[in-house]
Amino acid sequence: MQRFISSLLVVACVGIGSVSAELTRGKVFDRFITIWLENQDYAKVVVDSSIADLKRQGILLTRYYAHTHPSQPNYLAAIAGDYFGNNHDDWVRLPENVATVVDLLEDKNVTWSGYFEDVPGPGYMGNASDGSTGTDGWDYVRKHNPFVTYDSVTNEGERLLRLESFDDFQRAFAAKQVPQFVFMTPNMMNDGHNTTLDFATKWSHKFLQPLLADKAFNERTLISLTYDESETYTEPNHIVTLLLGNAIPPALKGTQDDTFYTHYSMLSTLQANWGLHHLGRYDVGANVFKLVADKVGYTANKDPENLPTVNNSASYPGILHDDPAVRLPIPVPNTKLVGAGGLGILPAIEAAWSGPPTYLTPYDGSGRVFDGDRNPPVYNTPQGFSS
Ligand SMILES: *[C@@H]1O[C@H](CO)[C@@H](O)[C@H](O)[C@H]1NC(C)=O
Ligand SMILES: *[C@@H]1O[C@H](CO)[C@@H](O)[C@H](O)[C@H]1NC(C)=O
Ligand SMILES: *[C@@H]1O[C@H](CO)[C@@H](O)[C@H](O)[C@H]1NC(C)=O
Ligand SMILES: *[C@@H]1O[C@H](CO)[C@@H](O)[C@H](O)[C@H]1NC(C)=O
Repeated sequence: MQRFISSLLVVACVGIGSVSAELTRGKVFDRFITIWLENQDYAKVVVDSSIADLKRQGILLTRYYAHTHPSQPNYLAAIAGDYFGNNHDDWVRLPENVATVVDLLEDKNVTWSGYFEDVPGPGYMGNASDGSTGTDGWDYVRKHNPFVTYDSVTNEGERLLRLESFDDFQRAFAAKQVPQFVFMTPNMMNDGHNTTLDFATKWSHKFLQPLLADKAFNERTLISLTYDESETYTEPNHIVTLLLGNAIPPALKGTQDDTFYTHYSMLSTLQANWGLHHLGRYDVGANVFKLVADKVGYTANKDPENLPTVNNSASYPGILHDDPAVRLPIPVPNTKLVGAGGLGILPAIEAAWSGPPTYLTPYDGSGRVFDGDRNPPVYNTPQGFSS
């Protein structure tokens, strides 16, 4: 087993003077940068001229869906494989035993940072802050920074210090020291929340040009430009996601990928690329970006069988729901699944949740999509699920 793990990881040296001398090579990319815009429907974004121009340099994911509304649960889901019933944007907090992508990355020495435009200082945990726009409104908002909700991040000073500003990103970029996993939230103007579709796509186009330039990165870098959720609650939560960056082979530039994806696909893709363990939640079974799935031989991508009846505008029950009648304890991760990285659950997660030998869990590894309408999560024993 140990030999299998180390064969997945080729550790290479990068430029002299780098903060971290070692780089954990991935199978398709060595760096992943995800940039989050706000609240637009697929149909409107896909015809926008800035997006059309970026699309020529990347892959358009045509069937990418957010999980629910409003913003916050989608951000929370993307890093932890569940949104825990959240259906609002107010202050929430999750205990130490809820792991995130950070635990998976650090386990394999993959460096990471979150960059939040107009955050007043590293590791800021407040609700909101004014910043560069001078509008006396909220530029930085906690609801668009999922990391600070998780005690497993905030209880460790080293991790908290990795939640930095866009100025810090620009400094790292100039020094060729951008970490290997990067989560970026622009401020409330640039992400389109308080502006327009066009404002945010123009900002994105401009922001991305230096990152897409020749020699911008020495390492293979995959960039995802995504939206947290759609604008129209009465329609399926269909959003645009574009994959960009020098990790995209020339033959795939300007193409589209019609596989079904959600924000959980970011987690499964990272797992497949770097051979990471999994979180034991809805990350297991989420379709892996085809660009990576094809390269690593991952063959489990498929449409969720309950897709026709899913209402991804309604949050299912859980501890972060605002209706006390549908609050449930945090579900136990499924310790029996094998993830897209070919590995089991992160051993530290299994240890944190060790309890009675039999327990119920909603995580079945099937890739089904759950909602608070006709498809509530079904709890079973890990052994009871067929996968
Ligand atoms: C953040 O907002 C919550 C309510 O959502 C409130 O209870 C809390 O006091 C606020 N924190 C700060 C620092 O303002
Ligand atoms: C991560 O880095 C530490 C310290 O350099 C090393 O002991 C460990 O073996 C590395 N782990 C992996 C999975 O490469
Ligand atoms: C954004 O809009 C909200 C209301 O939706 C407002 O409270 C906030 O001040 C605005 N922020 C900015 C930066 O304009
Ligand atoms: C989906 O759920 C939302 C929120 O409960 C509801 O307003 C909407 O009518 C539902 N849509 C469908 C198609 O049932």
